Amino acid sequence: MKEHLQHKVFKCISECADELGLETYVIGGYVRDVILQRKEPKDIDVVCVGSGIELAKRVAQKLHGRPQVQVFKNFGTAMVLHGDLELEFVGARKESYRRDSRKPIVENGTLEDDQNRRDFTINALALCLNKDRFGELVDPFNGMEDLANGIIKTPLDSDITYSDDPLRMLRAVRFATQLDFTIEQESYEALKRNAKRLEIISQERIIDELNKIILAKKPSKGFKLLFNTELLHQFFPEFVALYGVEIIKGKGHKDNFYHTLEVLENLSENTNDLWLRWAALLHDIAKPPTKRFEEGHGWTFHGHEFLGSKMVPKIFKRLKLPLNDKMKYVQKLVLLHLRPIVLSKDIVSDSAIRRLLFDAGEDIDDLMLLCEADITSKNETKVKKYLHNFEIVRGKLKDIEERDQLRNWQPPISGELIMKTFNITPCRMVGDIKNQIREAILDGVITNDYDQAFEFMLEKATDLGLKKH
Ligand code: CTP
Repeated sequence: MKEHLQHKVFKCISECADELGLETYVIGGYVRDVILQRKEPKDIDVVCVGSGIELAKRVAQKLHGRPQVQVFKNFGTAMVLHGDLELEFVGARKESYRRDSRKPIVENGTLEDDQNRRDFTINALALCLNKDRFGELVDPFNGMEDLANGIIKTPLDSDITYSDDPLRMLRAVRFATQLDFTIEQESYEALKRNAKRLEIISQERIIDELNKIILAKKPSKGFKLLFNTELLHQFFPEFVALYGVEIIKGKGHKDNFYHTLEVLENLSENTNDLWLRWAALLHDIAKPPTKRFEEGHGWTFHGHEFLGSKMVPKIFKRLKLPLNDKMKYVQKLVLLHLRPIVLSKDIVSDSAIRRLLFDAGEDIDDLMLLCEADITSKNETKVKKYLHNFEIVRGKLKDIEERDQLRNWQPPISGELIMKTFNITPCRMVGDIKNQIREAILDGVITNDYDQAFEFMLEKATDLGLKKH
């Protein structure tokens, strides 16, 4: 296993460990990821039997530039930043390992004690760093086999591992999704049994894991696991409500839970943007509360895009997602998600395209990606037809954009100019004239430039009884 310890920093830690006579290992995520050749891990967790803080101090002294040691005395941990690496040192312990645990450690332990208290067998692999055992793997739970077979499994009885830190239940789903692994049966059953215990976990930690699931290559796997284990029910009831099909008079509607996951999956092939993926997750979120069965018509979801965009801030707030421009962006995409589809079905007027460009602004390309991902029909002919129509819409958008430059539209005539021209103070008329100019541009009555807009303003102002100053 020496080949996984090529980085110079391991030689330095090895020397320091021997000088201090400390049995020392690199453990956890680093070992897992280098063996999987996943990515070059930037976090290195080092555990020693003894004082992790002493070891950290000695290592920092020997490293180039003598980086500072950040000591968390209560937790017996110390952190050293070395280039782009984050080295974390800890003394082996008998209790559950949690990076952000608020409980101080009380009992030191052996390496075995420490490994026992970690979350999964694949996260408990340790490579020895002492010179005479350099690169030796310590793997008491057959984590290597689980890595090879793609298994997520707790080292101890799952009920114990999960009650040590219930967030681990989400971590199980997250690793299964990121690595495309299977959660072993007993660990899986324990997820269902313990799902309610998630209530003691802070929303910040929950959303961190959820976002990692959303950013995985195939996020729908994670959502299905969260749903089937009822973990999702603990923090995201609106999403759970999308599940299921109701049938009245032989007519059913599509299952919006699976539909949404398909949209997310389609979209994920084209973007790694977390917020665009969130827009996919929430685009139909108001379908359950707007669902109606109309005689002679079947199922309708009138206004789900409006209600959905209104639900976004509430959901963001509860889930502790940021209440900033990212939220506004998601709201906007949810609100507009039906617009391109309508345009692709009917004969499209330039004015409708202009209005879409005006409303979507900078986010028009993302909106188009979302809408294309929203085509989940099983009928290939239909899919082809819709995609073709979208191509037409894209072409028209491009044309109109080049001509009218509406993407970041600024009114060609400002309120100040209107007031100055007619020598009036701020009043409703100023807003009226501005709106009329905007509408005329969007309807194509005038072009989006100063001269035509100025002429138009004079005309409208005369109608209102105003005189040029
Ligand atoms: N760990 C644990 N229980 C937790 C969190 C972490 O047992 N709730 C242990 C695991 O051994 C894990 C190590 O601490 O490998 C480091 O945790 P962390 O950095 O959070 O996760 P990684 O496994 O490194 O994975 P990632 O960087 O993808 O989050």
